[in-house]
Amino acid sequence: MKYYIETYGCQMNVSDSELVASILNTAGHDAAADIDSADVLLFNTCSVREHAEERVLGRISNEKHRKKAKPKFKIVLLGCMAQRIGKRLLETDTGIDYVVGVDNYRQLPSILAGEAHYALDFDTKEVYRELQPVHSNKHLGFVTIMRGCNNFCSYCIVPYVRGRERSRPYEDILQDMQIAIGQGIKDITLLGQNVNSYNYNGLSFPELLRRLNDIKGYYRLRFITSHPKDLSDELIKVMRDCDKVCEHIHLPLQSGDPEILKKMNRGYSYQHYLERIISLRQQVPDIAITTDLIAGFPGESEAQFEATLNAMREIEYDYAFCFKYSERSGTLAATSAEQLPESVRLERLQRMIDLQREITLKKFRAEIGKTVEVFVEDFSKKSKAQVSGKTRDFKIAVLSGDASLIGSLQYAKVLDATSGTLICE
Ligand code: SAH
Ligand code: SF4
Ligand code: F3S
Repeated sequence: MKYYIETYGCQMNVSDSELVASILNTAGHDAAADIDSADVLLFNTCSVREHAEERVLGRISNEKHRKKAKPKFKIVLLGCMAQRIGKRLLETDTGIDYVVGVDNYRQLPSILAGEAHYALDFDTKEVYRELQPVHSNKHLGFVTIMRGCNNFCSYCIVPYVRGRERSRPYEDILQDMQIAIGQGIKDITLLGQNVNSYNYNGLSFPELLRRLNDIKGYYRLRFITSHPKDLSDELIKVMRDCDKVCEHIHLPLQSGDPEILKKMNRGYSYQHYLERIISLRQQVPDIAITTDLIAGFPGESEAQFEATLNAMREIEYDYAFCFKYSERSGTLAATSAEQLPESVRLERLQRMIDLQREITLKKFRAEIGKTVEVFVEDFSKKSKAQVSGKTRDFKIAVLSGDASLIGSLQYAKVLDATSGTLICE
């Protein structure tokens, strides 16, 4: 059968889709060039916010008409949404034929053969050993180092849909890295919901990074996501010492208010967070820091929201992913009686975005005149006479040039900047 995978959500899902492709190829199926030529359409989905789920349901309802012309055409729901509400969706008229959860991808071939309609059992031992992911991008690679999450931040659905935390064996990670590097991938991101709690038979995350840094060849090493409560001095040292580890850290703050941080069950104080930032900036000069922030958490007062804006001003993130709080049923925060009106959440989100845009512009403009290392990934979105890529510190850079530059490293001078792009030569 020919299959086509559409992926939503975080990089973990991108990585899982590569795993699913590998499982399907091994079972004798082939990737289709587009949906029109596919017999099976798989949606790898996200549940983190309501909007993410609505989008996928809309997409599925747009595609189910294909069953009329192609009676054997199947739609499969994978990922976090499958785990959360897949069984319910299977029972209603959504067009979904099969539902497969995050620990059950090995069962996909038998499910496609019609042996069952769903597989949704959590399996804390499943780390998908002995599978070679099929990289979907020639230049950027993802390597999953752990699965699941044990943190139960009070707003978050991830621990409920991804199951308990487990670390993948070092040998498997090393092999995945070697394969990616062997295929010419030059920018590799290690993935986990909380990479700082990686622990495989006593091997810690900083030590893992040190070992991976020793693999021969040129490549950049990144990781997401770092939880501030577990960010050790040792990790900061490794970032300082290891040449391949890029000068960028994504460190979600979520809120700048002590009470809200407690209610979120984040496990750190703002003071602790700030101390980590100071230490990172001392030891890793020019490190770029990005974050995730939530506007309108239940019970958040105007003053508490302003504490987050103040934190943004104090820290000056290079970039911040700002989200409006979304109730996820089953989580603790969703049971709070203090849910804020949608209008308040939206208005706060907008203020957050506006503030960050100014800060990002300032940060990006500070790069003007510098020479940066750009790994060229593709044509620029705006013009085929320009290419685009990323700097080591995770800024998007565009430069004039043609296809011959794609996949290469360029040292480029920053001429100008917008709040999101460095314009280089
Ligand atoms: N494990 C990662 C990120 C997981 S989800 C971490 O801890 O950083 C990515 C981001 O989505 C979170 O950092 C958070 O900012 C946001 N998020 C999660 N649940 C949310 C919710 N219910 N409403 C709004 N944003 C949410
Ligand atoms: Fe969600 Fe918190 Fe786990 Fe991140 S660490 S996935 S925000 S529960
Ligand atoms: Fe990722 Fe969304 Fe699942 S953020 S872990 S795909 S809920």
